[in-house]
Amino acid sequence: MDGRPQAEQTEPPRVVLGVTGGIAAYKACELLRRLTESGHQVTVVPTAAALRFVGEPTWAALSGRPVATEVWEGVHQVPHVRIGQQADLVVVAPATADLLARAAHGLADDLLTNTLLTARCPVVFAPAMHTEMWEHPATRENVATLRRRGAVVIEPAFGRLTGADTGKGRLPDPGAIFDVCRRVLARGDLATAADLAGRRVVVSAGGTREPLDPVRFLGNRSSGKQGYALAATAAARGAKVTLLAANTELPDPAGVDVVRVGTAEQLREAALRAAADADAVVMAAAVADFRPAEYATGKIKKVEGQQPAPVALVRNPDILAELAAHRAKPGQLVVGFAAETDDVLANGRAKLARKGCDLLVVNEVGEQKVFGGDTNEAVILGADGSDTPVPYGPKEALAETVWDLVLARLT
Ligand code: CTP
Repeated sequence: MDGRPQAEQTEPPRVVLGVTGGIAAYKACELLRRLTESGHQVTVVPTAAALRFVGEPTWAALSGRPVATEVWEGVHQVPHVRIGQQADLVVVAPATADLLARAAHGLADDLLTNTLLTARCPVVFAPAMHTEMWEHPATRENVATLRRRGAVVIEPAFGRLTGADTGKGRLPDPGAIFDVCRRVLARGDLATAADLAGRRVVVSAGGTREPLDPVRFLGNRSSGKQGYALAATAAARGAKVTLLAANTELPDPAGVDVVRVGTAEQLREAALRAAADADAVVMAAAVADFRPAEYATGKIKKVEGQQPAPVALVRNPDILAELAAHRAKPGQLVVGFAAETDDVLANGRAKLARKGCDLLVVNEVGEQKVFGGDTNEAVILGADGSDTPVPYGPKEALAETVWDLVLARLT
C-alpha cells in the first residue's frame, strides 16, 4: 500500500425487474439470470399475480437478494419510494395489458406501480399478451402514452401464444430483452433513452443471393451483423423497426419486425413497401449488382469434354438510388453504406452524390476487414458536406452514431 486512497469501486448498476402475471413470467427467470451474471444488482418486484406463476423463492435464489412484493413489508424503509428512486433501470417483463394500463394512468395500487411512479431512470416494458389484447384500442393508447413519456415499449414477438393460437403477443427471447436493457443502461438517462420513440425506421441487412439454378447462387460475404446492430439499437431507442433480412442466420433482435428476403428484386419490393411510412431507411445490406440473366429450373450439369457455358449477367435495380430519388414522404432520410477497397473517401463522396442519399457510411473492406466481424471503422459522409469519423469499435457503436446523425437531421 502506498498510502493513497484505493481506487473508487464502481457500484454495479441497479436494476428493478418488475414481473407481472402472465405465463411468460417463467422467461423472466432467464432474463434475471443474465442480468445478475453480467454484474447487475437486481431487485425483483413481482406482482401478486406473477407470484401465482413463479414463486418468491425462485426470484430470491436467482437474484441473490430479498424479493420485494408488498408496500406493507419493511414500511420503515419506505419501499414504495426507495426501490424506484434508487434504480438505474426498471424493466417490466412480461408486462400484461393490465400493468400497461395501470402504468399509463399513473395508478399506484401495488409495489410495482409505486416503483414506476417514483423511478426517474429509463423504463423498459416488454409486453406479452394475446394478440386481441395487444391490438385493442385501449392497449394501443396506453402504449402510445407510455412511449410519449419516454418509456421504451418493446414490440412483442410473433409466434405461438398460450394455448393453440399463434399471433403477435409473445414475449421476445430473454436474451433479446437483455440486449435492450444493456443498451438502454449504456445510454444512461431518461431523456435520451427513447429518443427515437414515435419514429419508424427500415433497415436492410445481410447479402442478397441471385440464383443460377435450384442449388447455386451468386452471393456475397455479408454477415448481416451491422444491419442487425442498427435494427437492435433503433428498437432499444424506441423506434418502430422493420428489418429486411437477406439470408442471415442471426437471432431476431427484440421488438423488431423481421421480413426475410432472398434476392435483390425481393429486397427492392420489401424496401419500397416498408419505406412507404418510414422516417428513415438505412440500406446496410450488400445487394448484388448483377444477377444471372437466365435461371435454370433444373440443376446445371457438367458435360464431360465440354467447356461450361459462360454465365451471362444483367444489372439489378439500384434500390438505394431509387429510394433516394422517390422519397415516400417529405423529409424521409435515406442512408447508404459503401464498402470500398481503395481511395475510400474519394470513392465515398462520388458514391454519395451518385446515389443521392443523405448519409453514406463508408468503410474500408479487404480480406481481413469488416466481413463477419463484430467491429467496424468508418467515416459517415453527409450530403451537407459533413464527415463524421467513427473510430474502430463494436458495430453497435457505429449504429448508435448513425442514429444520432439521422435524428439530428429529422428534428
Ligand atoms: N445498393 C442498392 N442496390 C444495389 C446495389 C447497392 O441499394 N443494386 C446499396 C447498398 O445497400 C449500399 C449502397 O447501395 O447501401 C452501396 O452499394 P455498393 O455496392 O458499394 O455501391 P455500387 O454503386 O454498387 O458501387 P460499386 O461500383 O463500388 O459496386
